Amino acid sequence: MRKPLPEPWRVKVVEKLELLSREQRERVLVEAGYSLFAVPSEAIYIDLLTDSGTSAMSDWQWAGMMQGDEAYAGARNYFHLKEAVEDVFGFPYFLPAHQGRAAESLFFSWLLRGSNDKVIPSNTHFDTARGNIEFHGGTCVDLVVDDIRDPSSTLPFKGNMDLVKLRRFFEETPRERVPVCMLTMTNNAGGGQPVSVANVKATSELCKEFGIPLYIDACRFAENAWFIKQREEGQGHRSVAEIVREVFSYAEGFTMSAKKDGLVNIGGLFCTRDAELLEQLKQRILIAEGFPTYGGLASRDLEAIARGIREVLDESYLAFRTGQVALFGEMLIERGVPLLQPTGGHAVYLDAGAFLPQIPPRLMPGHSLIVELYRQGGVRGAEIGSHMLGDIDDETGQMNTLAAIEMVRLAIPRRVYTNDHLEYVADILGEIAQHKDQLKGYRLTDRARAIPKSMRHFLARFEEIQ
Ligand code: F0G
Repeated sequence: MRKPLPEPWRVKVVEKLELLSREQRERVLVEAGYSLFAVPSEAIYIDLLTDSGTSAMSDWQWAGMMQGDEAYAGARNYFHLKEAVEDVFGFPYFLPAHQGRAAESLFFSWLLRGSNDKVIPSNTHFDTARGNIEFHGGTCVDLVVDDIRDPSSTLPFKGNMDLVKLRRFFEETPRERVPVCMLTMTNNAGGGQPVSVANVKATSELCKEFGIPLYIDACRFAENAWFIKQREEGQGHRSVAEIVREVFSYAEGFTMSAKKDGLVNIGGLFCTRDAELLEQLKQRILIAEGFPTYGGLASRDLEAIARGIREVLDESYLAFRTGQVALFGEMLIERGVPLLQPTGGHAVYLDAGAFLPQIPPRLMPGHSLIVELYRQGGVRGAEIGSHMLGDIDDETGQMNTLAAIEMVRLAIPRRVYTNDHLEYVADILGEIAQHKDQLKGYRLTDRARAIPKSMRHFLARFEEIQ
């Protein structure tokens, strides 16, 4: 069979990468207290920490950057972005924000003002949404389908909202305690799994029945639409642009980090159909981000987003993008590395618990694996296991609650690395597989336990258990 088409672009600018020597990498790890967040980017060869803000922009986007109208109010790029938001998503009102969590903060701080008994359901809240909701006194409830907890289940839409659980939740919770229902797509915290169009429609109908507005966390809207086109019955003949329009027609609004499918390095959006809410948030954005036509961004950034959200609908790009992630997953499976199935849109999620059974979850097998990936190959990944999601006792350093699965996320920046780069990473993991029974667990250093829990994941330092 013919191989899929290679990258649907050619390279115009390159950025040098350097692989430090083994001794240098070892020294970097010690200096960083075995935290990959503390390793300088220049000491990294292949950086798979995140797909957020790490995209390569196109010549069309860069050309638009030169046309930034850096006026304080009413810059032309604001109007370009307004048109793009209307064309791509069908939304009349929006506010720019400097990234996703700024849009979330704007929305949730307004929604939850002066209350502490509100509850917000979602398929799975992403950490920043959860952080914003909890910070403002709200409670988060995750109602994703159960299949997400089974790494080997290959169901096509493991990001879906569980409609039985949502109905029960609405029936049991007084209406005035539920200001909004969220739907994250793709479901990042749940392995980058998509949500089907049928599920968005059904969630929206259920929300309407109970009088609750549905908002989408839209960071990876185009990858989600591509999976719908590929996997959902009756959707294959439609364009991604049409599918996006339908998906968003079911929502009252959305928050979005443009650092993912906006194909930009910084930026975010808040969109709504509610004119009154928009007026309220305009007042907040003035205090927090800046004038409502630029919202914490330079006008050139607005132009890059306006072009990015159109450009990302290009199906040859989406076919390559999701194909590259899937190919990377296949390379890893060939080398004996266990993964969550099917591979997500933006990342592969390794099952570190299954890979390193000798390290109990309380000693952070995922962390051990990311340290070894850097040591062996200068590669940076992220732990999404008991260190990030578990509850570690401040006094004793004991792990009180554990994550459901000990994962390592290798997120693929958009249009940045070639398949050869990813094959290199797969080879490093293949080499690690040969000596994986020698890997040891980690614990937080005493000083790391003094860091507030919400920040620990970023700031903690570790020691290897001998
Ligand atoms: N929602 C989702 C689903 C996300 O994945 C992110 C960011 C945000 C909201 C917040 O956006 O970073 O622009 O403020 N995810 C990044 C990641 C950090 O690595 O997955 P932001």
